[in-house]
Amino acid sequence: MQGVLDIPEELREIQSVVVDGLARVSDVFDEQLRSELPPVDTMCAHIERYRGKMLRPTLVLLCNAAARGSEDLSAVTDRAPIVCGAVSEMVHMATLVHDDVLDEAEIRRRGRTINAMKGNETSVILGDYLIASAYELCSSLESPVPSRIVGRASAVMCTGELLQLHNRNNLSLDEPTYFEILKRKTAALIGAACELGARSALGFDREHDPIAEALRGFGLDLGIAFQIQDDVLDLTGTLEEVGKSVGKDLEKGKLTYPIIHHLAHADDETRERSLIDVRAIGEGDSSDVASLIERIEGTASLEATRACAVSYVESAKSRLSAIPDGVAKPMLTLLADAVVTRSH
Ligand code: IPE
Ligand code: IPE
Ligand code: MG
Ligand code: MG
Repeated sequence: MQGVLDIPEELREIQSVVVDGLARVSDVFDEQLRSELPPVDTMCAHIERYRGKMLRPTLVLLCNAAARGSEDLSAVTDRAPIVCGAVSEMVHMATLVHDDVLDEAEIRRRGRTINAMKGNETSVILGDYLIASAYELCSSLESPVPSRIVGRASAVMCTGELLQLHNRNNLSLDEPTYFEILKRKTAALIGAACELGARSALGFDREHDPIAEALRGFGLDLGIAFQIQDDVLDLTGTLEEVGKSVGKDLEKGKLTYPIIHHLAHADDETRERSLIDVRAIGEGDSSDVASLIERIEGTASLEATRACAVSYVESAKSRLSAIPDGVAKPMLTLLADAVVTRSH
């Protein structure tokens, strides 16, 4: 998570291992998408120019190092963790390209979205190209296990998006359904990235490995905390700060934790006014966002949201007790804490 983490001196070495690994991941990513057709190549170059935080490949590399547990931080020489890093970023990228169509978003990673530049049809097919390329790349690994892990996570992600669409404009969305959506649409891939990192060190064919399972659990908890923070940033952040279109969740009738908490804790009169605002914003009138946020603050719902995200981070960190000591472990702890303090 470059730019988000403040790295202490003793962890600089592992940071440089991750930085080297990410450069190799980027090369594999770009190479896989290269096309002899100039218009396709130009679109892929646009995607490559706007790199995000690279959270998923970072987790693959750190979990690979954590599972090895060694103090020997020689650069990752195996191809498997690098390919797994590129595959996880490519699947993620595909979901973002499609998600921006659903959200009618114009800005992503401080650049224009594909749908804003080229329209929805192009975005649908480019997202398909990314996902197909990810599977082709993954299947170049000797073991079929990573393809199975990635296939499963992608299918679960789609069910999360479908559940979210099903609950669009559901103003009585409850917490369990909200968390089910998060677990599926975001945490599944982050958990898979951690598992892929671990298994690429431990061997893909070892079933029920306690280290791989602990790191997968770490990723699942972290993923939920990550999406809760993303939902806070969508509600309270600015485009300049976050680097992508904000305010989309309410605009698209998606209730997130701060709103769900607020509606559950407000008195009847306040709740009625907030529901009117939520409906109006969903119908395209954003003039009431500021007063809605004020009421949300009145029920301390942003603090409650933060506390909830922090509890998932704590749960994630507690899972690290099952993995060997080494410098990757404190780095994973730092990264977990950064998930809820980040502003982009
Ligand atoms: C955005 O993910 C979508 C969510 C799951 C919240 P990231 O915040 O990891 O996006 P990039 O890759 O850094 O742009
Ligand atoms: C989508 O959630 C997460 C995916 C799995 C694609 P969001 O809609 O909140 O993601 P952003 O905020 O557009 O990045
Ligand atoms: Mg979105
Ligand atoms: Mg969001």
